[in-house]
Amino acid sequence: MPSKSLSIPLCALLTLAHIHAQEAPKYDAASVQRGKEFFVSHCGFCHGVNAKGGEKGPDLLRSVLVLDDENGSSLGPFLAHGRPDKGMPAFTLTPEQVTDIANFLHRAIYAAADRDTYQVHNIVTGNAQAGEKYFQAHCASCHSPTGDLKGIGKKYDPENLQDNFVMPRPEEHGKPLLTISVTTADGKTVQGVPEHFDDFSVALRDSAGNYYSFKRTTPETPRIEIHNPLQAHYDLLARYTDTDIHNLTAYLVTLK
Ligand code: HEC
Ligand code: HEC
Repeated sequence: MPSKSLSIPLCALLTLAHIHAQEAPKYDAASVQRGKEFFVSHCGFCHGVNAKGGEKGPDLLRSVLVLDDENGSSLGPFLAHGRPDKGMPAFTLTPEQVTDIANFLHRAIYAAADRDTYQVHNIVTGNAQAGEKYFQAHCASCHSPTGDLKGIGKKYDPENLQDNFVMPRPEEHGKPLLTISVTTADGKTVQGVPEHFDDFSVALRDSAGNYYSFKRTTPETPRIEIHNPLQAHYDLLARYTDTDIHNLTAYLVTLK
């Protein structure tokens, strides 16, 4: 009688080796999530919601100050003073908030640096059918393989394709990423693209081109709401496993 088979599919072996090699440093997930939320609402206007830089602030994933930081030890003192003369406001933060922001940024740096290693294997290990299932369950409410994502596998090479669904950057396609709405104490609401945002004032331009500027008398007044068309993508970031990402990539490359 043949011995009980030990044959493990090659792709599973690769996946195992991959997961092993990719053992991520442990960042407390709840802290990263809090840091992300804080960052998106307080820093994203200038640094981009993914910290990769925006119109008004530099890429923080390549910032030496952030790279050298350990658990907020450099970031905290820096944020307390900012560089107001250069457009970087000061922030009054609790030590927990500093830790959360630091965890979010370090996790993002890790993910960005790690991306190259991901690419080598993702096509090999991904299962397009499983990717399609995941797509139907989590993406089809906004996207269609025969509609907006038709030909996406031709538009990007696999590496950039994965980058783009993990963290789309529609601002690169000339569309504003965020809109905000501001509701004043007397209940009037205006909505538009943010032009300026700091602790003291907020300004926006509505779709008709009108410019509005408001003093912020308290953090809650006027009430500011941020509308991010990519919120679903950020929410998914916290839920994907490596395997989900590889499967999705394998599926999306088939959309020629
Ligand atoms: C109003 C726009 C604005 C906001 C809001 C803002 N920043 Fe900045 N930030 C800047 C600018 C501009 C610089 C570059 C300053 C300079 O040239 O030295 C900067 C620089 C930095 C740097 C230093 C980068 C380096 O390597 O020198 C860090 C770190 C940073 N910001 C973190 C944050 C964090 C965290 C938040 C949110 C809590 C935030 N910023 C909010 C505009 C902003
Ligand atoms: C709630 C809506 C929503 C959900 C759910 C969602 N997305 Fe998106 N997605 C968007 C928006 C909005 C954009 C930006 C569109 C643009 O660039 O014009 C986008 C952009 C993209 C892009 C970049 C398209 C391009 O041409 O560069 C890809 C790829 C993508 N999403 C894939 C996915 C995948 C895969 C999932 C599921 C895992 C998903 N999305 C879930 C709303 C959503």
